[in-house]
Amino acid sequence: MAERYRVAILGLGKIARAHMRGYLAPENAERVTVVAGADISAEAREQFRTEYGIERLYEDYRELLETERPEVVSICTWPPLHPEMVEAAAAAGAKGILCEKPMAVDLAGADGMVAAAERAGTVLVIGHQRRLLPRYSEARRLIEEGMIGELVQVSVMCHGDLLSDGTHSVDLMRFLAGDAPAVWVIGNIDLRPREVTNTGPQSFGFQDWERTRTRYGHHVETGAVGLVRFSTGVRSLVETGICARPGYQRALVYGTEGWIEISGDRPVADEPPLRARLRGQAEWYVPALPTVDAFAREIALLIEAIERGTRHPLNASSARAGHEIIMAIFESARRRARIDLPLTVTESPLEALVAAGAG
Ligand SMILES: NC(=O)c1ccc[n+]([C@@H]2O[C@H](COP(=O)([O-])OP(=O)(O)OC[C@H]3O[C@@H](n4cnc5c(N)ncnc54)[C@H](O)[C@@H]3O)[C@@H](O)[C@H]2O)c1
Repeated sequence: MAERYRVAILGLGKIARAHMRGYLAPENAERVTVVAGADISAEAREQFRTEYGIERLYEDYRELLETERPEVVSICTWPPLHPEMVEAAAAAGAKGILCEKPMAVDLAGADGMVAAAERAGTVLVIGHQRRLLPRYSEARRLIEEGMIGELVQVSVMCHGDLLSDGTHSVDLMRFLAGDAPAVWVIGNIDLRPREVTNTGPQSFGFQDWERTRTRYGHHVETGAVGLVRFSTGVRSLVETGICARPGYQRALVYGTEGWIEISGDRPVADEPPLRARLRGQAEWYVPALPTVDAFAREIALLIEAIERGTRHPLNASSARAGHEIIMAIFESARRRARIDLPLTVTESPLEALVAAGAG
């Protein structure tokens, strides 16, 4: 009989619910049991106990790791805590870690996470789950099969900030561009605060940002633009916050003989999830796409990676490459220059700009 993995969740807030859904999904339910959770908030712990009937709840995540020795750990806290939690979970013997995006707030944190996982032989996965959604994987298939000719440019956009939401956009940009190494990056950010005008249903989680210029425990800009050149010659443009065209994780992919439009989470007007003008075809290609729970999929693939040594599509080294692009956009804004990669700056250029009084 297949091994059943004992899982612990660190941070019992909003995204921990999506992880729970993934662990409880039919494709994973036989393979994993969530046995414990940790949160510094007694209220969060109590809510989790009530919702899921999990009794082994800790205030101190280090005590949880020491006592429970979980084989799989979900890290669902804010990014400033991700590096220390990944390092502690790997050192405590976790075989697999699913850490939420963004990896960290700087490159040093991301590097520490990759190194800790490698040292301990732990599979480290970062929660850029959108890669697993059919609208993006179908686009990737069309590109790979030459259905839009040669790939020229990928544009991605979302109305959040670059680090919190743009990390998904940059990950999708890299995915659609075939995960080629980025050669250089040029970008700019708008650090001015803006009026609190965004109070509609899509404003969830954004009010604090507009008032305090922080989200998830770190500073954020109100708008960013970045142009990336990949080693293949493909160009990518990322637009976020007040610089973005409408949509959330929307992508436009241009080839020499066609193009693809991916509507993202919150479709503009009545856009289908994906439509494309393919090489030599006069009509739109609008495929019927299956429904996939990307949280369940990323967990199923994590178990497969632990057991078979397969490379997880959301592996930490791939996420680190996207994180470097984000940090390079911030560094480009700081230096007013094109930034050739690899990036040598390991602190957060954004935090440095804020500390220097920019904006
Ligand atoms: N993958 C996605 O699509 C997606 C979507 C939303 C959020 N996220 C990411 O998930 C992460 C968490 O976001 P959220 O919205 O769930 O935040 P949240 O504020 O709802 O939850 C975070 C929880 O962590 C707890 N916490 C803080 N310090 C702790 C500590 N030292 N030990 C244990 N628990 C501690 C808090 O009390 C809180 O309950 C962020 O990095 C965010 O960017 C990912």
